[in-house]
Amino acid sequence: MTAARSRTEPALNGHLLVSDAEHFRVDFEINPYMSTRDQPDPCAARAEHAGIVRAHRAAGRRVERLPSAPDCPDMVFTANAGLACGGQVVLARLPGPRRPETPHHRAWFEARGYTVVDAPYDFSGQGDALPCGPLLLAGSGHRTDARMHPFLADRLGYEVVSLRTAGPLWYDLDLALGVVSPDLLLWCPEAFEPDSRSLIRALGLELVEVAESDARRFALNLISDGRTVTMTDRAPRVAALLRARGLTVVELPTAQLAKGGGGVRCTALTLHPAR
Ligand code: ARG
Repeated sequence: MTAARSRTEPALNGHLLVSDAEHFRVDFEINPYMSTRDQPDPCAARAEHAGIVRAHRAAGRRVERLPSAPDCPDMVFTANAGLACGGQVVLARLPGPRRPETPHHRAWFEARGYTVVDAPYDFSGQGDALPCGPLLLAGSGHRTDARMHPFLADRLGYEVVSLRTAGPLWYDLDLALGVVSPDLLLWCPEAFEPDSRSLIRALGLELVEVAESDARRFALNLISDGRTVTMTDRAPRVAALLRARGLTVVELPTAQLAKGGGGVRCTALTLHPAR
């Protein structure tokens, strides 16, 4: 993991860890988008995942693989594994039904020589922790205990901005806010508590607002390297708005992943360079 970035690999989201959709099912309901009566189509889900990985590679991003395990139906959402930065990873403390994933995550990082740190409190991994330049935009209140924020600041050296989303629809921060580049954020103001809205407005970053209806279709759950944005095809207005800013936008089907309550961002854990 210490290998230098290749010349063409982007600095933001240039190195990603993904799993696969082989065992993706809705076996439990741990967010408001999941219903055990609405199962993903296995073939379409695999195709969605493969399409996302292809798009990352086409954008010049390096992609690592962690095969999913049969007893881990949500493992396709690899962003929740933890937060990785330099040679360290802080592993997530996931909701009960997802705990069987953690030994697989731990083994992957240990085998690659990472210093593996256990989260002392509930922690949704990168779902609630989005690096943005020197900042770590960090969510709490649903899957992440607010006491994780100073812990992450201390361990990984980020300046943490603590944010609270407005309700269970926004159970992870990466549904409410998307980092397009270190100076451009897409966000859905309705998805945040009033204090957090003010905090975001005071960051001094360029902010583009997205309608709640688009955010609910996981429009903000995107991966951007600052040049190419990989996102769902269910929010064409948001795609158009990014294109108008000169970005290359790749829109991909995510209707199967949506049944698990996630989108493009959720499927990849960024292996962030050292701070
Ligand atoms: N079904 C998964 C869960 O509820 C979805 C996780 C989506 N991940 C994310 N980073 N928002 O945990």
